[in-house]
Amino acid sequence: MKKIFAANWKLYKSPKETRTFLSELNEKSKDVQGEMIVFPSTISLEAAADVLKSSHISWGAQNCYSQTEGAYTGENSAAVVRELGAKYLLVGHSERRKIFKETDSDFAEKIALAQSLGLTPIYCIGETLEEREAMQTDQVNQKQLQIGLWKADLNKPLIVAYEPVWAIGTGKVATPEQVAVTHQKIHSLLETMKLGSTPLLYGGSVKPDNAGKLLPIPHVDGFLIGGASLELNSYLAICRAAVS
Ligand code: PGA
Repeated sequence: MKKIFAANWKLYKSPKETRTFLSELNEKSKDVQGEMIVFPSTISLEAAADVLKSSHISWGAQNCYSQTEGAYTGENSAAVVRELGAKYLLVGHSERRKIFKETDSDFAEKIALAQSLGLTPIYCIGETLEEREAMQTDQVNQKQLQIGLWKADLNKPLIVAYEPVWAIGTGKVATPEQVAVTHQKIHSLLETMKLGSTPLLYGGSVKPDNAGKLLPIPHVDGFLIGGASLELNSYLAICRAAVS
């Protein structure tokens, strides 16, 4: 399976910056062995769609509403994002959970909608520091998977990203041992849900200097990268951790 390198740009990069970055990335990444996916902010999606029209790089949206149209002021439609050419939708990021108070049930709706439109959801799960210290990591991941995926179509593509909340944007990357143990457990859980072939990404302070250690761990099928994906050379260096 090709390794996956998903770049979550959060609320950074204007349409102009998106164009410049992606044109250069397109040129410089022809040797990358894995699948590159970028998630620009909503207003920059059209610029990404334009630059990446016939590119080896895919793109997706960071969030969409659970309805495709209607009286939902300020929301974004997954159907429109699909029409623009998106292949992926991020769902369940910890910032959506914490800041925007979205729940596992909200994510279940979004995942079902994305799949019905032909978008591949990347569903993010992971425990907070308090939950890890209280030894609740496995229960938290299990609950997020069971509720978030209860409407998922077992026959349609899906990706899961394990992102321990305490490692996101903090510079505190999980140790290879923590990643190995948790990925093994999540993979086993997915197997019991008949989703054993679902690619499983790791996210949380992935940088060029730790990517090479984390990528070979069993059941690490790629990364979801925040901060380090905003700079071209650091994103490329992470993607180059995949060698055939
Ligand atoms: P980070 O973010 O790489 O900056 O920790 C990861 C994410 O939020 O997906």
